[in-house]
Amino acid sequence: MRILIVGGGGREHAIAWKCAQSPIQPTLFVAPGNAGTAALGENVPIQATDIDGLVAWVRGNAIDLTVVAQDDPLALGAVDALQSCGLTAFGPTQAAAKLEWSKVWSKDFMQRHGLPTADFAVFDERSAAAAYLEQTQLPIVLKPDGLTAGKGVFVCATREEALQALDTIMESRAFGESGDRIVIEECLRGTEISVFAFADGTHITPLATACDYKRAFDGDAGPNTGGMGGYSPAPFVDPETLDYIHHEIMERTITLMAQEGHPYVGVLYGQLMLTNDGPRIVEFNVRLGDPEAQLILPRLQADLVTVFQAAVDGRLDEADVTWDPAATCGVVAASGGYPGAYTTGYPIAGLDALDDDALLFHAGTDRVDDTVVTAGGRVLIAVGRAANVPTARQRAYDNIARITFENAYYRKDIAAREV
Ligand code: AMP
Ligand code: GLY
Repeated sequence: MRILIVGGGGREHAIAWKCAQSPIQPTLFVAPGNAGTAALGENVPIQATDIDGLVAWVRGNAIDLTVVAQDDPLALGAVDALQSCGLTAFGPTQAAAKLEWSKVWSKDFMQRHGLPTADFAVFDERSAAAAYLEQTQLPIVLKPDGLTAGKGVFVCATREEALQALDTIMESRAFGESGDRIVIEECLRGTEISVFAFADGTHITPLATACDYKRAFDGDAGPNTGGMGGYSPAPFVDPETLDYIHHEIMERTITLMAQEGHPYVGVLYGQLMLTNDGPRIVEFNVRLGDPEAQLILPRLQADLVTVFQAAVDGRLDEADVTWDPAATCGVVAASGGYPGAYTTGYPIAGLDALDDDALLFHAGTDRVDDTVVTAGGRVLIAVGRAANVPTARQRAYDNIARITFENAYYRKDIAAREV
């Protein structure tokens, strides 16, 4: 079996790593991949957003299954393009992926079905949005409608901040067309968790939970990033709450998507706030999280290739998917300056100095001659595994400390509150 994984980050390395353990023994290709995925298969020099290039390559290379792991190719219709050529792809269609790529559509979907989420208003004109902000309660949250690589959410404590965020989105147009429309929503308070389920259009698997640290610096200071580390599972979620999230949020969303004519196949990722009034949806994403994939896939007690196949065949109810109750914790080493500007090309030392049971997933790395060098903002993640989060945390930190490169930084407080 020949599998192409589309993407080039830590998530895609984790997917390739898990597929490489399959008894089916697939031949793996990753586009564009990184130095980590190159050790598990062949990197294909095609960008994840080059849909025509991907389709042509898949047709020419007898690929049996394409796993579209990243949000932007899904939003561009990569799955539709592959399917229209009779090719098999794992991931939601462009219409189903709207749950992530249009915040307005997603919020309207939640509202018309009474799914629990923050109250909101939508504006396509700056003046009307500004008038609304003059009288709204604070704090308040502003989000552009479209994709923003995780950088588009503004949680504003003052009216001045909110008006400034509005200008950033609608006047300076920092997010381009993504800012044609804006969602202004209630600020939710509580504990944030990520939940994941595989979906086949009708059925979902049991959920995996994780906690992600989105801010760049310790104490949740600094700008939002793609995620600087985290742990899995979230041990504080009680079974009753998890059951509610499974049936009333995740499964119901899959049922409703099918009823609305957009059957959802792929990974559904719910970003939830556990509030005093129960779990509420911050947003949906249509793929595995990064770094959450690196935390949950090591806990998956099933063959991932079989799960992908069952999902595209609509047979997930027959798949035996369970999650190891043991914990993982991961710490990301990033390039100094990330999520702003940073320099790449620095050699990475210590890659062979890890403990046998620790995992290292590459993200922004590349191989130049015989040297692995930095090639992105988030460079790699060390993942510790243990019976509980505190021990997993200790292992992650023991191992990330052995990896060095120029200007590296990592958060020192990942999972600290869990200890
Ligand atoms: P996102 O880009 O949607 O993942 O949002 C980034 C972060 O902003 C989330 O992880 C939350 O911590 C925060 N956030 C987004 N929406 C809200 C909200 N309505 N209330 C409180 N925090 C929010
Ligand atoms: N870790 C957040 C995300 O993947 O969107």
